[in-house]
Formats: sequence, structure tokens, C-alpha cells
Amino acid sequence: MRHAIGRKTGAAIVAIVGAVTMHAATKTTQAKFGEMPDGAAIHIYTLTNAHKLQARIADYGGTVASLEVPDRDGKMGDVVLGFDTLAEYLANPTQYFGALIGRYGNRIANGRFSLDGVEYKLPRNNGENSLHGGDNGFNRRVWKSRALPDGGLELTYLSKDGEEGYPGNLSVTVTYHLTGADELRIDYAATTDKDTVVNLTNHSYFNLKGAGSGDILGHNLLLNAERFTPVDKGLIPTGELLGVAGTPFDFRRLTAIGARIEQNDEQLKLGGGYDHNWVLNKSGNALTLAARVEEPTSGRTIEVHTSEPGIQFYTGNFLDGSVKGKGGKVYVRRGAFCLETQHFPDSPNHAAFPSTVLKPGQRYQSTTVYRFGTAAPPNIKK
Ligand code: GLA
Repeated sequence: MRHAIGRKTGAAIVAIVGAVTMHAATKTTQAKFGEMPDGAAIHIYTLTNAHKLQARIADYGGTVASLEVPDRDGKMGDVVLGFDTLAEYLANPTQYFGALIGRYGNRIANGRFSLDGVEYKLPRNNGENSLHGGDNGFNRRVWKSRALPDGGLELTYLSKDGEEGYPGNLSVTVTYHLTGADELRIDYAATTDKDTVVNLTNHSYFNLKGAGSGDILGHNLLLNAERFTPVDKGLIPTGELLGVAGTPFDFRRLTAIGARIEQNDEQLKLGGGYDHNWVLNKSGNALTLAARVEEPTSGRTIEVHTSEPGIQFYTGNFLDGSVKGKGGKVYVRRGAFCLETQHFPDSPNHAAFPSTVLKPGQRYQSTTVYRFGTAAPPNIKK
């Protein structure tokens, strides 16, 4: 719609009206979700669009707690893993179910990096490495929240200078919109008062059959990437950008997630499955297709579009059935996949990777859109 603006006056008016109604049809309500140990109230917002798609998002961690989308027969299903109560989110932080991740998504090697000649030390919460912002990342923070007039949800958080070892007061704004085009759109913005590093994402775990309906190995995946960043045993990128051709990392055509996951491949063994960053085919930071997933039995599909240069495709290898989620359902190993749009892991220690440095006066901006749809039944070949 935005592209139409400016072409001619008539089109511009249509485009502007379209843009307004797109969000205005989304109804947003707020309710209390629970209380933090210190008594702070946590809210949960329910965003419902004109097609009855519904997202529930908490201001604890900016967590997407549920996401109801239709299957090919119009039957709604909750396609993200999570918990029914705040207490369970507080007790189970290491899965990062549905949460906003920051200040730095994914790993920083040995929990340290240098910037402007100063070495910064971060919590090592994943072996030797720092993962997803440290011990108390943005996923464990209480965000200020408000429903926007256009039906969106705005979350803001001030990450103080030195928090989890990172320099600079970082002022972060994340907005969620559930659009009339059946998209969950996430816009991230941040500014700083000192040079720092930033890499924000959302850690939703999807199962398009429905959360807690077994594994995701039969989902078909496309990743718009010719290369990925291979890792060492700590899941830190080696620095190489490796071509996917001829490897189990080639998802340039829709391929079942489980088709090659058990192959005797060094990278798959290091990840315990897929837990890698793909280098998206793009130049610049336009919103482009990163991934598409189709689930054959329900017909549900998801398309991911992002302004980011990379995407972490993670197949829930660390889920082991020990955690019970919503409705008491068991989340088995590989019971979900994550598609975390991002800059590459450990970029602060790899000068050749796209930079994650943010300086005073600059504005960090990033957008990711998860578009839901359905596909016809696959052709049954005899
Ligand atoms: C990311 C990481 C995984 C794992 C999950 C959370 O996807 O790459 O290794 O830590 O987060 O469990």
C-alpha cells in the first residue's frame, strides 16, 4: 500500500484510507495477567483482527503468549508455545517462549567484546558464552505498555548504562500490530547515549499444527538464503559464510524440516539439529522474504519478512518434554521451530559481519512481519 503513495493523487487517497482501516479493524483489550514478586502488575493485551485472528501479548518480556490463526477449514488453533500463567513464565526463563530478546540476541563469544578500545564483560549464561542478553535480558523485564489508537501495542523499556554489562542507556520501543492482512508485525526502535551494540528479536516457538501437537519435522520450510554461518562447539560462528548447496542447510526450495535433520553432518551434530544463522539473500535493509513454512495437515502457512540480514532457524532441540505448557500440553523435543530475525550471532567479535554498533544520534530500526495464511491440501501422489 505504501508503494502506491505518490503515484497519483487518487491512488494516494485510497492508500491512506487503506492504511488506516488496516489497523483500525483490530480491537485491543487489556487485562491483568499477574504480579511480579515485588507486586508490580503485569498486563496482557488481546489483539483481535477482523478475521478473528488473535494475539495475546504480555508486558512481562513483551511475550507473545498465544496466537490463534485458522487452518484451511477455518478452525482456529494456537500456534505458539507458552504458558497459561505469569508464574510459569517466571519459573521457566531459559526457553524464552515468545519473548522479546535483547540487548543482544543470540551468543557473544566468551561473554566479551571490545568497542572503542574498551573491553566489556557480559554474563556467561550459556557455557563460556553470553546468550540472549545475559542473565536478565529483555525477556525478563517489565515493559511499559499502552494500546495505540490504531489497535497496536506499544512497549517501551529503558535499559540502563551497564545493565548486564552493556554500555549506554538504551531506550527501546517495540510495537506489535495484528494487521488486516493477517500479519503479526513487530517494529523495533532504539537510541543510546553511548556507543553500544544492539540486536533485537522475538523468540516465538511455532507449531502450525497447534502448540503441543507433537513435533514439527513434517512442516515444509523455505529459507531465502544461499549461505549460512557455520558454528563451533559452543554454537559461535566460525566467521565463515558457507554455501548451502549440497548440504542439509539448503532450504532454497520448500523441504520438510525433518528430511535431513538426522544426517551425519558435522554442523547438524554441533547444533543437535538446526540451530544456525542463515545469511538472507538481500542487499540493504528493505523488508524482504526470509522464510516460508507450510504445514501439510492443517494447511496453515507462515511467511516471515524482515529488514534484518539474518535469521536463526532453531528446531527446539533443547525441548525435552519436561516442561508442560498451556493446557498441560507437553512440549516434546523438536515440538516447535523458531525463526528469529537478527544480525548475525557474535557480530561484535566479527568485523566482517554487518555491524551491530549503535551510536548516540543514530536510531536502531528493524521490522519483522509474520504473515499467516493457508494452502490447499498437497497433491497426493500414488
Ligand atoms: C536460540 C539459540 C538456541 C537456544 C534457544 C533458546 O535459538 O540459538 O541455541 O538457546 O535460543 O533455548
